[in-house]
Amino acid sequence: MQFSDQMIKKRGIAMSLKDAALSVRENAYAPYSNFKVGAALRTSTGQIFSGCNVENVAYPEGTCAEAGAIAAMVAAGEQELTEVYVVASSPQPVPPCGGCRQKLAEFGKRDVKVTLATVDGAEFETTIGDLLPGAFDASHMEDV
Ligand code: THU
Repeated sequence: MQFSDQMIKKRGIAMSLKDAALSVRENAYAPYSNFKVGAALRTSTGQIFSGCNVENVAYPEGTCAEAGAIAAMVAAGEQELTEVYVVASSPQPVPPCGGCRQKLAEFGKRDVKVTLATVDGAEFETTIGDLLPGAFDASHMEDV
């Protein structure tokens, strides 16, 4: 889902990453885990994109909220994320899975702020670099 500045102005909504993540989480399709996750990201142009987890009866085919938000961003022609917010109904702020850490690292610099949150309002601030120390990146393929 994409929230352009224009849409936000039109609706008179002061849309924050938190609002966008909480809102898209409502649309999560999670009949197997019952664990709904919402993710929202801001790009270098200031636009906000969001995504939710979409599960499948063939369990490995399910996709994470972060992956959905990244796919929406790339589909809209953007490739640089500058801030991320992830929220779920969990006892502690929800940490992205390993695969999503790698996906975030593909499109954001190490110092990009990532806020992990619970629906009750607990938040933990970290960065892409701290979530994935020693990340594999394109520099490791320079000899090829
Ligand atoms: N999930 C996400 O969407 N993002 C995360 O950061 C953690 C896990 C989803 C995947 C699956 O649909 C459900 O949560 C339970 O693992």
